[in-house]
Amino acid sequence: MGDSGVAFSSGPLWKELRMTTLQILRKFGRGSSSLAEKIQEEVNCFVNKLAEQKGEVIDLQHYTHVSVSNVICSIILGKRFSYEDSRFKSTVESLTRIAENARGAAAINFLPFLKYLPGDMFQAKKIQRNWANVKDMIVEIISEMIPDTADTQSTTESAPNYISFYRRRQQEKVKKGKRTYLDDENLKKSVIDLFGAGTETVSSTIAWCVLFILHSTDVQKKVHAELDREVGQERQPTMEDQARLPYLGAVIKETQRLASIVPFSLLHKTSEEIAIHDFVIPKGTTVIPNLDSVLHDPKIWGYDADRFNPGRFLDKDGSLLQREEFLPFSIGPRLCVGEAMAKVELFIFTSSMFQRFEILATETLNPPSLKPNIGITSVPESFRVLCRERFKDNLSPQNV
Ligand code: HEM
Repeated sequence: MGDSGVAFSSGPLWKELRMTTLQILRKFGRGSSSLAEKIQEEVNCFVNKLAEQKGEVIDLQHYTHVSVSNVICSIILGKRFSYEDSRFKSTVESLTRIAENARGAAAINFLPFLKYLPGDMFQAKKIQRNWANVKDMIVEIISEMIPDTADTQSTTESAPNYISFYRRRQQEKVKKGKRTYLDDENLKKSVIDLFGAGTETVSSTIAWCVLFILHSTDVQKKVHAELDREVGQERQPTMEDQARLPYLGAVIKETQRLASIVPFSLLHKTSEEIAIHDFVIPKGTTVIPNLDSVLHDPKIWGYDADRFNPGRFLDKDGSLLQREEFLPFSIGPRLCVGEAMAKVELFIFTSSMFQRFEILATETLNPPSLKPNIGITSVPESFRVLCRERFKDNLSPQNV
């Protein structure tokens, strides 16, 4: 545990940062410029960008990275970036490099002394350099924003973003003479944590979804059929459609289960001595929660636990099942703070993408590899696909 920011702090500091972060994210769940609407706007740009590629071979992860990063930017910083913005492009590029080098660095997460070996055998230095680039951009933007947001009069309810809301909370507490951990250092660290935790996870889940579908027969056809029947092609899917699309819901859940995006959660530390069955874990012990073992356990999911089978999340009537062993966002008080937001993103991204495109492997008989790069997150190897517009005449970018 570190001593600042929402993801790596503990004790009262963490409690206040987590509560503030949850309140802000909930606030985005409501109102006219709600989270879902912001995500829909970004996904609209995403599908239009894919359409511009005119069915050519593309690196889909590049586009998901850019769009998912932009969702976080619009929530946290209150602005999105054009796909051509050089500062933004370089940040997204760094995120991609971090993911590519993650596998080597996984060992260092669990055996930190390895980072002192000469050279860069585990790619940790490359990752650090790329993270430094991501952090520089965030800090630069926050510094540009802080003079504006410091003036509580100028930050109105109608233009909310994480930073302005946090600053307002901070100043209210200071004015009332309340003790608070909401300082600028914790703001910067929390924004970096949200950016780090909220981009690779969602982007990789979308990429895994496409990969699993390319390796399965009929799943894409069923997703298309459900979308055509329940939404049609005249409008973009919205959150109101979610209940009518159980098959897509099952595809998303099965993707999250099988891909096990954060296989070992984040490191935890026991705050007091604890006994589990015959084991006593002393206070201050680092604990690695093995979510992967639950998500892939044949005793829970059956003999085919390692196979992509959305049907395991559907009952006999085709309704979506909630299963308590499905815990890709972890459990307990440190459960992912972005769970609700991630679920909206996954639904809007996948529904809009499959509504408009048929996604094809470059070699039908040889779909891209399912080998994961396991670091903190499980990221697919870079792959190329073709996104063919399904209803080119009905669904032009203007009328989506
Ligand atoms: C599919 C997407 C996602 C998955 C699978 C995921 C999964 C996780 C997991 C397993 C943890 C560790 C929980 C623990 O320590 O027990 C976590 C923590 C966290 N996640 Fe996510 N996450 C996702 C998306 C997001 C998004 C979109 C955001 C930001 C809005 C986010 C922000 C965070 C933060 C800040 C923490 C630390 C929470 C704390 O320590 O209190 N995550 N996430």
